[in-house]
Amino acid sequence: MKPVVQTGADLIDLLLGEHGCILALMRHQERRMARMSLRELQECGAALEAVLQAHAVEEDQLLFGALGELPPAVRGTLDAMYGEHQEMRALLEELRGQREAVRARALLARLMELAREHFAVEERVLFGLVREWIGSVRLRELGSHYAGRRGMQLPA
Ligand SMILES: [Fe+2]
Ligand SMILES: [Fe+2]
Repeated sequence: MKPVVQTGADLIDLLLGEHGCILALMRHQERRMARMSLRELQECGAALEAVLQAHAVEEDQLLFGALGELPPAVRGTLDAMYGEHQEMRALLEELRGQREAVRARALLARLMELAREHFAVEERVLFGLVREWIGSVRLRELGSHYAGRRGMQLPA
């Protein structure tokens, strides 16, 4: 009998990889944050915005959008995560309009703290629930949608 070979990458694994990448970017930025000017702090915000926004859009549209009817426990966590995506967008917008370095630094620090807490809940709670709910075949299909949207080639 031929072994069952599962190919491709599932969407949750791909999103987890992005968490790792965003956490590395934040660590890099944090090391220099205390000495940054307003302009540099806003440049950091712009770089974080690019990756956080792309990540939140894939989660909102591909993962959360594929869930349909949900048990109340999953729905509650999902709504909280969706709300935090909005909160991060609001912080980034506030950072863009800042005129004082002290305030911009505090906003950037708050954004990083929120992103870390948010990722931790997704990793510890939400992704496991979603994985059980959606199943591995559908998650690999969603992984291939993600790859197409990002211009990636997944192994066949
Ligand atoms: Fe998220
Ligand atoms: Fe995430």
